[in-house]
Amino acid sequence: MVSKIFSRRVLLLLAATFQPVLGQYYKIDTDDEIRESARTLAYDLMLYYEGNKTGKVPGILPGPPDDGLGDYYWWEGGAMMGTYIDYWHLTGDDSYNAVITEGMLHQTGPGNNYMPPNHTASLGNDDQGFWGMSAMLAAEVKFPDPPEDKPQWLALAQAVFNTQAASDRRDETCNGGLRWQVPISNIGYDYKNTIANGCFFNLGARLARYTQNETYAKWAEETFDWLWNVNYIDHEIWSVYDGGHVKYNCTDINKAQFSYNIAILLQGSAFMYNYTNGDGIWRDRVTNLLNATLRDFFPNNTAYEVPCEGRQGACSTDMLSFKGYVHRWLSVVAQVAPFTHDTIMPVLRQSTQAAVNQCTGGPTGRKCGFYWSSGQFVDPSVDGTTGAGEQMNVLAAVSSLLRGKSESPTTNQTGGTSKGDYGAGSSFNSVTTPLKPIGPGDRAGAAIVTFLILGGALGMFGWMSWDRGG
Ligand SMILES: *[C@@H]1O[C@H](CO)[C@@H](O)[C@H](O)[C@H]1NC(C)=O
Ligand SMILES: *[C@@H]1O[C@H](CO)[C@@H](O)[C@H](O)[C@H]1NC(C)=O
Ligand SMILES: *[C@@H]1O[C@H](CO)[C@@H](O)[C@H](O)[C@H]1NC(C)=O
Ligand SMILES: *[C@@H]1O[C@H](CO)[C@@H](O)[C@H](O)[C@H]1NC(C)=O
Ligand SMILES: *[C@@H]1O[C@H](CO)[C@@H](O)[C@H](O)[C@H]1NC(C)=O
Ligand SMILES: *[C@@H]1O[C@H](CO)[C@@H](O)[C@H](O)[C@H]1NC(C)=O
Ligand SMILES: *[C@@H]1O[C@H](CO)[C@@H](O)[C@H](O)[C@H]1NC(C)=O
Ligand SMILES: *[C@@H]1O[C@H](CO)[C@@H](O)[C@H](O)[C@H]1NC(C)=O
Repeated sequence: MVSKIFSRRVLLLLAATFQPVLGQYYKIDTDDEIRESARTLAYDLMLYYEGNKTGKVPGILPGPPDDGLGDYYWWEGGAMMGTYIDYWHLTGDDSYNAVITEGMLHQTGPGNNYMPPNHTASLGNDDQGFWGMSAMLAAEVKFPDPPEDKPQWLALAQAVFNTQAASDRRDETCNGGLRWQVPISNIGYDYKNTIANGCFFNLGARLARYTQNETYAKWAEETFDWLWNVNYIDHEIWSVYDGGHVKYNCTDINKAQFSYNIAILLQGSAFMYNYTNGDGIWRDRVTNLLNATLRDFFPNNTAYEVPCEGRQGACSTDMLSFKGYVHRWLSVVAQVAPFTHDTIMPVLRQSTQAAVNQCTGGPTGRKCGFYWSSGQFVDPSVDGTTGAGEQMNVLAAVSSLLRGKSESPTTNQTGGTSKGDYGAGSSFNSVTTPLKPIGPGDRAGAAIVTFLILGGALGMFGWMSWDRGG
C-alpha cells in the first residue's frame, strides 16, 4: 500500500516507469493482452515459413544455407515446430496445428527417427535432438495425436533417443559421451559438446518422467555425470561450456557460454528432480544451474546472449534463436520444480517486457529485433538474417508467461495419450548413404561454426585452427 505522504511522488514515479515506449505495439499486462500479443507474434512468425506453399518442403524454414535456399538450418524448423506446439498449449489457439503436424510428420525420415535422407549428410546429434524434443513436447502437452497409421509423438521421441543411445553412435574417447556430428566425414565429428549431450540428457529425463521407465533415467544420469566429469559444467560456479575435442581427451575446453547449453541442462535436471520425487541431488543441480543461468544470461533481468550479443553482427542465425528456448524451458522448470517458480517467473516477465518493448520495426511497426536490453529495434538485416529467430524468441517469451495457467507436462499416468514404442527408430539408426565430406561453412547445428568464422579475430577460439591444421 502506498503511504499518504509519498503517494503522489510514488505515483508519478510509477507513471514514468510504466510509460510505454513510444510506438510500442505489444502489451502483456493481462492474460488477454498476452494472448492477443502472442496471436499476432505467431501470425508474423508464420510469414517466414514457406513449408505449406506449393513446391516447398513442410517442416523447414527457408534453407539450408549450403544449398543457397535461405538462412536456416534444418534443426531450426524443428525448434519452430516446438514453439508452435507450446503456443497452442499455452493459448488454446489451434490455427497452426495442421501446418505444424504436417511439418513434424514430413521430416521424420523413412526410419521415423528424424534422420531424413535430405539432412543426414550434415546431421548433428543436436539437430536430430531438437526435433526429438519437439515430439516429446507434443506428447507432454497432448498436442493432437497423429492419425493411427502415422508415427506417434512419444514413439518419435523414443526413436531419436534410441538412435543416440545405440552403440554405433558411441565410443570410448573422453570416457564416453556423444560426438557433435553423426557422419564421420563431418567437421565437428571430432568434437564432443554440451548441446549434443544436453539434448540427449533432456530427452532421457523427460522420457523417464513420461514413461516411468528407469532405463531412460539411468542414461540421463550417466550423461549428466559425464558432462560433469569432463568439466563442461564448471565445478565451482556452474557455468556451462561448449565442448572439447576427442584428440585432447576433451580437455581443450572451449569456454564459450551459450544460453541454450545451460538451459537445456537446467530443464532436464528439473525433470529428473520431478521424476525422482524431489531427490536432493537433483534439487541442488537445479538450484545451482538456475543460479548460474540467471547470473550469466539475465543481466538486468533481461535475456542476453553473452558470447555474441555485445558485438553487432556476431550472433549467427542459430544463436539469434536461443533466447526463445531459454524462456520456454525455464517456464517449464517453474512447473516441474515448483520451488523455483517464484525465482523464475518474475525474471521471465521483466525479460519479456524488454523483449516486446523493442518490437517496433518494419512497415507494421511491430517487427521484433534481437537486442532486448537496448530497448531499441535494430533492423535484423544488420545481422544478415531475415529474422525468424528474433520473432520466435519473442513469441516464445510472451506465450510462456501463460505457463502457470496451463497444465503441467503430462505423463503416461496423468493424462498423456501418446503411444510409445520402446524399439522405435532402431531399424534405420545409422547413416548409410555415401557421404560427401563437407566444409566448415556447410553446417551449423551447434553454436561453434560462427567461431570458425570469427576464429581469427578471437584468440580464445584458436583451438579451431588446430582442427583445421590437423
Ligand atoms: C499456410 O499456413 C498459414 C497458417 O495456417 C496460412 O495462413 C496460409 O494461408 C497457408 N498457406 C497455404 C499456401 O496454404
Ligand atoms: C528433400 O529435398 C528435395 C529438394 O529440396 C525436396 O524436393 C524434397 O521434398 C525433400 N524431401 C523431404 C522428405 O523433405
Ligand atoms: C580422459 O579424461 C577422463 C575424464 O574425463 C579421465 O577419467 C581419463 O583418465 C582421461 N584419459 C586419459 C587417457 O587421459
Ligand atoms: C546465486 O547464489 C549466490 C550465492 O549463493 C547468491 O548470492 C545469489 O543471490 C544467487 N543468485 C540468484 C540469481 O539466485
Ligand atoms: C512434479 O511436477 C508436478 C506438476 O507440475 C508438481 O505438481 C509436483 O509438485 C512436482 N514434484 C515435485 C517433487 O516438486
Ligand atoms: C544493465 O544496466 C546497467 C545500468 O543501467 C547498464 O550499465 C548495463 O549496460 C546493463 N547491462 C546490459 C547487458 O544491458
Ligand atoms: C502407459 O504405458 C503402459 C506401458 O508401456 C501402456 O501399456 C499403457 O497403454 C500406457 N498408457 C497410456 C495412456 O498410453
Ligand atoms: C524400458 O525402456 C527400455 C529402453 O527403451 C526397454 O528396453 C524396456 O523394455 C523398457 N521396460 C519396460 C518395463 O517397458
